[in-house]
Amino acid sequence: MTTESKIEIPVCSPTIGERESDLVNQCLKDGWISGISPYVERFESSFAKYCGCDYGVACNSGTTALHLALASLGIENGDEVIIPTFTMIATPNAVTYTGARSVLVDSELDTWNIDVSIIESKITPKTKAIMPVHTYGHPVDMDPVNELARKHGLKVIEDAAEAHGAEYKGRRTGSLSDVGCFSFYANKIITTGEGGMIVTNDKEIAEKAKWLRAHAFGRGGKHFYHEAVGFGYRFSGLQAAFGLAQLERIDEFVSNRRKNARLYNSLLSVLGNKISLPPEAPWAKNIYWMYSILIENSFGISRQELMDRLATKGVESRTFFYPVHVQPIYSAQHAAEEFPVADELSKKGINLPSSNSMTEEEVRYVCKCIVEYST
Ligand SMILES: Cc1ncc(COP(=O)(O)O)c(C=O)c1O
Repeated sequence: MTTESKIEIPVCSPTIGERESDLVNQCLKDGWISGISPYVERFESSFAKYCGCDYGVACNSGTTALHLALASLGIENGDEVIIPTFTMIATPNAVTYTGARSVLVDSELDTWNIDVSIIESKITPKTKAIMPVHTYGHPVDMDPVNELARKHGLKVIEDAAEAHGAEYKGRRTGSLSDVGCFSFYANKIITTGEGGMIVTNDKEIAEKAKWLRAHAFGRGGKHFYHEAVGFGYRFSGLQAAFGLAQLERIDEFVSNRRKNARLYNSLLSVLGNKISLPPEAPWAKNIYWMYSILIENSFGISRQELMDRLATKGVESRTFFYPVHVQPIYSAQHAAEEFPVADELSKKGINLPSSNSMTEEEVRYVCKCIVEYST
């Protein structure tokens, strides 16, 4: 390790092997490179099955997966969708694309996810859906969310962009609601470079999403005749070939992340309440997309100072998201509301190196640096 500021241990980098090249080359030879491809179908059905769902519809990003899910469920102008304020910007943006409005809910400190106990107070006659986010790989407490949705006739969409393989009461994320949405961006648990997928057990939703994904071409012989405004959200055969190779290793990736999280937890526990460790509720399997901690005031140096010092040791780290209610594009709509937990998470949190292939030695090195910097 050097003391230069060159990053040597990234927050999250993909694990790519020869199998990815082999399958992509096979796809090139077969010529099935675009959106209509047996590779896409195989990737869709294999990933959906992995999640415990009957259908998968792949698309070109996690953001477009969210938009496609909302559009397929009929969310439109004038509707309201309940989301956590503590999330990545793609969650509210996808709602905005439909013409609907995001209604924000604060987080809970126990899981860093949407505070389920607040959701009902945010339901209005305009509410059409709840879109919880499995933040940093920890599942949301979905039973009460689904119960509220049943009671008020709402749809539920999981933003599972960060939670491939995470489990709630033994069931995988994505399968816990009407539709689950995933991202396959390069820093996700499995990647296709760029890409996303919706998974569902509802055949009608899957068929509508497939139709909308590629321009809503006309059916019954009238191909270039359009009865809905569809999207250019196709996913390519090349991406699917790559994704099939990644999927073969997903169990290894998840178990390495969990092993590293256990090591991080045990080495950082010497800091006591100077930091807060990432949550794992008794009913949850966290896959630690980002192994993250909160830097408490008693740590001794500020979060920024810690991050700067880690950078000089070649350790990359990231701050948590800025919540939606402080984003310049949304803040005016939420000026009168308060979200103290999300604000606290946003101020205190950092994501530490979390790649699939991170070694035990690297985890030990990162922890040694953090412990040394605490006063
Ligand atoms: C919670 C969440 N939703 C959606 C997305 C969007 O995924 P993509 O970058 O593939 O569009 C991300 C990306 O990191 C995310 O973290």
